[in-house]
Amino acid sequence: MESGATVTDTYLHRPVLLAEAIDALNITPAGIYVDATFGRGGHAQVILQQLGPHGALLGIDKDPQAVAAARQMFEGEPRFSIERGTFAMLGQYVQERGWMGKVNGVLLDLGVSSPQLDDPQRGFSFRQDGPLDMRMDPATGISAAQWLASAPEQEIASVLYTYGEERYARRIVRAIVAARQEAPIITTGRLAAIVAAANPAWERDKHPATRSFQAIRIFINHELEDMQACLPQVVEALAPGGRLAVISFHSLEDRIVKRFIREQVRGDDFPPGLPVTQAQLRPRLRAVGKAMYAGTEELQANPRARSAVLRVAEKV
Ligand SMILES: C[S@@+](CC[C@H](N)C(=O)[O-])C[C@H]1O[C@@H](n2cnc3c(N)ncnc32)[C@H](O)[C@@H]1O
Repeated sequence: MESGATVTDTYLHRPVLLAEAIDALNITPAGIYVDATFGRGGHAQVILQQLGPHGALLGIDKDPQAVAAARQMFEGEPRFSIERGTFAMLGQYVQERGWMGKVNGVLLDLGVSSPQLDDPQRGFSFRQDGPLDMRMDPATGISAAQWLASAPEQEIASVLYTYGEERYARRIVRAIVAARQEAPIITTGRLAAIVAAANPAWERDKHPATRSFQAIRIFINHELEDMQACLPQVVEALAPGGRLAVISFHSLEDRIVKRFIREQVRGDDFPPGLPVTQAQLRPRLRAVGKAMYAGTEELQANPRARSAVLRVAEKV
């Protein structure tokens, strides 16, 4: 049992773009697959169903509650193993299993899970009050409350602007700094109220603290850095013909995935003007289809799918 993890899980996660992601992985029964964002195993379960007795699935998640759920769900399942850690270490986990260059598919379903968002105790929610934590792995790094207590004004503004694309970052940060001088900001409810009061632009159907919370969460969990570290390791891990499928939930993530696939499709960089052939460029990936979005039926059933984008590529 992972420390800090509960056995009973009252918060459910509904997998996003499930059929599309499974289809994208092009599963062969004896293949090797990695679900690098296990969550509550919505995708993993279907991958396992499609694997034969000689197939294998590795799950990865940095959240101890997700890992505990995985152990419970697949107890005694010899084809499944789970790593508690960041997918920025995917290469090491794959190497340890002797799978380098042999993996047939890797799925990244990025961002937070519904159990993380819905449990106020995890500190991600601006709708329900709870301790201001926001760590996917509460045993690593510092909480959002600790960071906000001491970070320089300029640093907080830069986080809100860069990771939240928050136009009113400066105003909001001035309010945060004034508030923390009165008392430490240690609850999600207080932070949401401070941001809402300072934000002059209330968008329809969007809580005024949405962008700020997203930004702080991305920063605290170094989400974009982990992605950037992971993607090249996926390319190394894949067997020729192996698939990479990535579901992202906001434009910053999607931009990184799109650029990465484009660069890998193009291959090595040569100075402009050099007469190089396509083969000399050594492309490493081939893009498979176009970006995919949730259909009307899924959107009605699961509002979280609203911003989901699936991109797929295949190792050359
Ligand atoms: C959107 S959920 C995945 C849901 C899953 N596909 C399902 O259907 O149940 C994202 C999960 O990835 C995990 N995660 C996010 N970033 C991670 C990282 N850098 N390393 C490992 N796990 C990560 C989160 O803890 C969360 O459980």
